[in-house]
Amino acid sequence: MTQLFDVAVIGAGPGGYVAAIRCGQLGLNTVCIDDWKNPEGKPSLGGTCLNVGCIPSKALLESSENYERAARKFAAHGITVNGLSVDVPVMISRKDKIVSNFTGGVAMLFRKNKVTSMNGRAALTGSENANENQGNPIWNIEVKDGDQVNAVRAKNVIIATGSVPRVLSFASVDNERILDNTGALALKEVPKRLGVIGGGVIGLEMGSVWRRLGAEVTILEALPQFLAAADEQVAKEARKIFTRESGLVIKTGVKISEVNATAEGITVAYADSPAGEGNVQKLEVDKLIVAVGRTPSTAGLGAESVGLKLDDRGFIEVDSACRTNLPNVYAVGDVVRGPMLAHKASEEGVAAAETIAGRRGHANLDTIPWVIYTSPEIAWVGKTEQELKAAGVEYRVGQFPFMANGRARALGETAGFVKMLADTATDRILGVHMIGPYVSELISEAVVAMEFGATSEDIARIVHAHPSLSEVVHEAALAVDKRAIHI
Ligand code: FAD
Ligand code: NAI
Repeated sequence: MTQLFDVAVIGAGPGGYVAAIRCGQLGLNTVCIDDWKNPEGKPSLGGTCLNVGCIPSKALLESSENYERAARKFAAHGITVNGLSVDVPVMISRKDKIVSNFTGGVAMLFRKNKVTSMNGRAALTGSENANENQGNPIWNIEVKDGDQVNAVRAKNVIIATGSVPRVLSFASVDNERILDNTGALALKEVPKRLGVIGGGVIGLEMGSVWRRLGAEVTILEALPQFLAAADEQVAKEARKIFTRESGLVIKTGVKISEVNATAEGITVAYADSPAGEGNVQKLEVDKLIVAVGRTPSTAGLGAESVGLKLDDRGFIEVDSACRTNLPNVYAVGDVVRGPMLAHKASEEGVAAAETIAGRRGHANLDTIPWVIYTSPEIAWVGKTEQELKAAGVEYRVGQFPFMANGRARALGETAGFVKMLADTATDRILGVHMIGPYVSELISEAVVAMEFGATSEDIARIVHAHPSLSEVVHEAALAVDKRAIHI
């Protein structure tokens, strides 16, 4: 008889593996099915995030930033470095080791929490009504791994199948010359000229890595505005710094008409206006990254055969508790609406597990922090100024620059600012936007504040350590009431 589980989780990315661990903690008999294989063909848990996303990209960002510090920033501290060079294969193997430590760590956590791990591609094949589940359906899942086909039965299903890179018909990825995120994280040497299609998060992070190591990097972005999702003022400041100091060439409002890859190189033909009526230009590069967004991964899941409802963009439709239209079937992470971020996926995974266990699962999408790990970093939570204006909300702004902060001066990282937006009537914090050093760490204070419904006055009255970068958040809160001290 096919084994019956309380919960089958499909996908072991940060949505699925966290859901499975939480199910295990809650005493639910859980199986997690995942089909990811590493370049050696071995199962590798952790999904996009651990294998070819968050973790490896941050490892390379750190390595390349160290190189840049030694090349460009140490001199100001009186430190001279002679004969500086970079060994790309060593850098890549350090990154690979970090990845394998973490993916192995997920397998260990599964064992610790008694989660059964199954490798293969899962498809929902149907359901049966059985007394075993108090009249609720029991879901049948087929798991294929090469020639092997296994079956699983489960009272509850959490779908966490994530996302895959969006493809462009005129630039097919071979991960040799034309790369997606997987290829961009595994280059064996620094390309002389690197093109990037898409000036979003991956384009900026991966463009920064290879630029710091010496590549000439040109980013081609279709939208007329740069970093459209960020606060406009932050986006403007970022573009200025990335262009003038980091040396990225950023072209916005372009329409790409052709990509021609030969043994000699790659030519990208583009018009410098989105409508295509601008001058046609040619960009010659050695490697080309395509990073134009990601699409939900539902291929082969059996959605149609079991009647699982998708929206018009291919995301699985869910309610605020991540319930799909099918009884006891939940979906979390990149495969459902909302930002495609690892921490959002994990939070939804926990919420689904808790709902299944009869608790009140909860993931607040209004306070999901965003971080872009460029240098300087960009981070935000809540509403942007342009969103507040569009919604007709009255707000006050408090802003403070890192230039006036002692710790930032000591670090030699003085670019950027923190901006706090607070409701004019209630002073409640509506959004916090940051560009500057380690703002990936500073943003959690703003998230906590917003989760607790704090006002700017609350932050203004909290003691912040001196000298620390957190004082910039404090001063921005004081600035809402026009009483910043150090400016
Ligand atoms: P995924 O991580 O995509 O995992 C889904 C898993 O399900 C995969 O292992 C997949 O193979 C498996 N699967 C799919 N279909 C099936 C099936 N039918 N049967 C079995 N298994 C299946 N987010 C951040 O928050 N911070 C970052 O710094 C960050 N950096 C990123 C950098 C890059 C280069 C990329 C590409 C993404 C980055 N992200 C980052 C986004 C983050 O990786 C995703 O939001 C996150 O991985 C989504 O988690 P998930 O569990 O929904 O899906
Ligand atoms: P993205 O949505 O961030 O950016 C894609 C960009 O490509 C957009 O600006 C879009 O306008 C542009 N584009 C689309 N079609 C184009 C075309 N034909 N020509 C030129 N430009 C075009 O997507 P990206 O960078 O692929 O990343 C995917 C997702 O992964 C992110 O949205 C984010 O959710 C996640 N991610 C998160 C990171 C983080 O949290 N630090 C890091 C990397 C990825």
